[in-house]
Amino acid sequence: MQDLIEALEQKRADARIGGGQARIDSQHAKGKLTARERIQVLLDEGSFEEYDMFVEHRCSDFGMEEQKIPGDGVVTGHGTINGRLVYVFSKDFTVFGGSLSRAHAEKIVKVQQMAVKNGAPVIGIFDAGGARIQEGVDSLAGYADIFMENVLSSGVIPQISVIMGPCAGGDVYSPALTDFIFMVKDTSYMYVTGPDVVKTVTNEEVTHETLGGASVHAKKSGVVDGAFENDIEALIQIRRLIDYLPASNRDKPPARPVHDSFDRQEMSLDTLVPPNPNTPYDMKELITKVVDEGDFFEISPQFGGNIICGFGRIEGSTVGVVANQPMTLAGVLDIDASRKAARFVRFCDCFNIPLVTFVDVPGFMPGTKQEYGGLIKHGAKLLFAYAEATVPKVTVITRKAYGGAYDVMSSKHLRGDVNYAWPTAEIAVMGAKGAVEIIFRKEAGDPEKLAARTKEYETNFANPYVAAKRGYIDDIIMPHNTRKRIATSLRTLKNKSLTNPWKKHDNIPL
Ligand code: HXC
Repeated sequence: MQDLIEALEQKRADARIGGGQARIDSQHAKGKLTARERIQVLLDEGSFEEYDMFVEHRCSDFGMEEQKIPGDGVVTGHGTINGRLVYVFSKDFTVFGGSLSRAHAEKIVKVQQMAVKNGAPVIGIFDAGGARIQEGVDSLAGYADIFMENVLSSGVIPQISVIMGPCAGGDVYSPALTDFIFMVKDTSYMYVTGPDVVKTVTNEEVTHETLGGASVHAKKSGVVDGAFENDIEALIQIRRLIDYLPASNRDKPPARPVHDSFDRQEMSLDTLVPPNPNTPYDMKELITKVVDEGDFFEISPQFGGNIICGFGRIEGSTVGVVANQPMTLAGVLDIDASRKAARFVRFCDCFNIPLVTFVDVPGFMPGTKQEYGGLIKHGAKLLFAYAEATVPKVTVITRKAYGGAYDVMSSKHLRGDVNYAWPTAEIAVMGAKGAVEIIFRKEAGDPEKLAARTKEYETNFANPYVAAKRGYIDDIIMPHNTRKRIATSLRTLKNKSLTNPWKKHDNIPL
C-alpha cells in the first residue's frame, strides 16, 4: 500500500510541475503567476479540489505521442470563495503554451456542466496560445464544445473570464460568451488574429498591446469589464465580485449582515445638484452615499463613462446600480453607454438582482458618428433591456430626464415599480432653451421675448410636478432620504411577481 501511495504522490507531483521549472520561472519572470498559484489566490485556502489531473492528450502527430504532460495544459476543479461554491479552470501556459487539445477541452466542459447541474458560477482563467496546432480539427471541435456550454449556461449561472496572458484565436470566444471579462494590464492581450496576420492582411503595424491590450479593451472596444494592475489584484477583485452574485438563476442574491442603518440620512445630498443645470456633479457620490457602507463594485469604469453600472448592497442584499454620469458628456446616452448598460441590466434580470437607477440624462447623443454607428439600434437595446426586466426596479430622477431618454431610464412606462424624483428634477421633452427655439421659432429675432418664453417653459415644465400630477412619479423625495426610500421600496418588492408572455426567446435588437 505504501508503494501505491508513494506512486500516486509522485504522479501528482509530476502533474503539479506542469511544463517544468524552467517554464514556471519564465512565467514568474514575466510578472505572471502559474495556473495553480492563481487558483490558490482566487479560492479560500485549502478549498480547491482538482479534477482530471491525470488527463493526457491523445494526439500522435508531429511526435506528440512522446510529449505528454499530465493535466494537458489546464487545471480544473472546484473550491469556495468566502465559503460559496465556484468551479474553475485555469490555463497552464507552461504546458504547450496553454493551447487547447481535445482532452483539454473535455476537462473544461466537465466543470462547465457540473457548475450548471449544481448551480454555481464558473470562473475561467486564460493564458494560452489558442488551438493546439498539432491537433487540427479536434482542437476546433473542442472549442465548439466549450462555446456550446457557455451558451447553454448563459443566464443560468454567472460565468466570469479573467485574461492573464495571451488569449488569441479560439480562446477569445469563450470569454466573449461569458458575463464578465477582466484583464491584467501589460501582461495580457486578446485578439482574434495577432499582429503578424494583421500586417499580412491589412498592412497595419501593431503590437500585442496596441492591438488587444487591457488599455484597448477596457477603454476603446468595451470588450472587457475591467483592467487590473497584476494577477493578485485581479483575483482579489474577482473574489469581491463573486460576493455580490447569486450562485445561479435559481437563487436570490446573497445577503450579508450589515452595520449601516437603512434610514441613514445624507444631508450633503441636498446640495449635490448644482443650481446651474449645466454644471456637472459626480453621480458616484450619490451612489456611494446610498449603498451599504459605500461599497460599490463598478463594471466597465473606463468605457462609456457617461453611464455608471455596478453592484452595491442595500440592507445587505445585492442591487444593480445604473446611473447617468453628468461628469462625462453630461450623462448623455450614446452607443457605448447604451450597450454597456443594456448588457448590465440584462445580467441583473437573469440573476434576480433588483435594479436601482439614478437618472440625470439630457437625451441621446446627436450627430452623424452616432447615427452612422447605429445609435437607434443600440439605444433600443437599453430600452428593451429595461422593458423586459421583471426584477424589482426603483428609479430616482435627480435632475434631467429629457425626451426618449426619460422613457428609457427605467421609467414608470417601462414597468418601473417605484419611481421617485428629487425636487431638482426636470422631466420634459427637452431642455428649455432647445424647446423654446423650436416652438417659438418666429420670435427668434427678439431675445427679450425668447428669454421670457424660456422662463415660462422652465417654470411650467422643468420640474418634477407635471410628471407627479400624472402619477408617472410616485413621490418627490428629499435627497437626504434617498437611501431610506430606496430601502423601503425594495422591502416592499421582495416578493414581486411578474412574468413576461411565453415565448421561445425574445429578439432584442442586437
Ligand atoms: C501548440 C503552442 C501553441 C499552440 C504556443 N505553443 N502556442 N503549442 N499550439 N497554439 C507552445 C510553443 O511552441 C512553446 O513551446 C510554448 O507554447 C510557449 O510559446 P512561445 O511562443 O515560446 O511563447 P511566447 O513567446 O510568450 O508567445 C506566446 C504566443 C505564441 C504569442 C501565444 O506562442 C503564439 O503566437 N502562438 C500561436 C498562436 C496561434 O496562432 N494559435 C492558433 C490560433 S488559431 P515550447 O516547447 O517552446 O515551450 C485558433 C483557431 C481556433 O485558435 C478557432 C476556434 C473557433
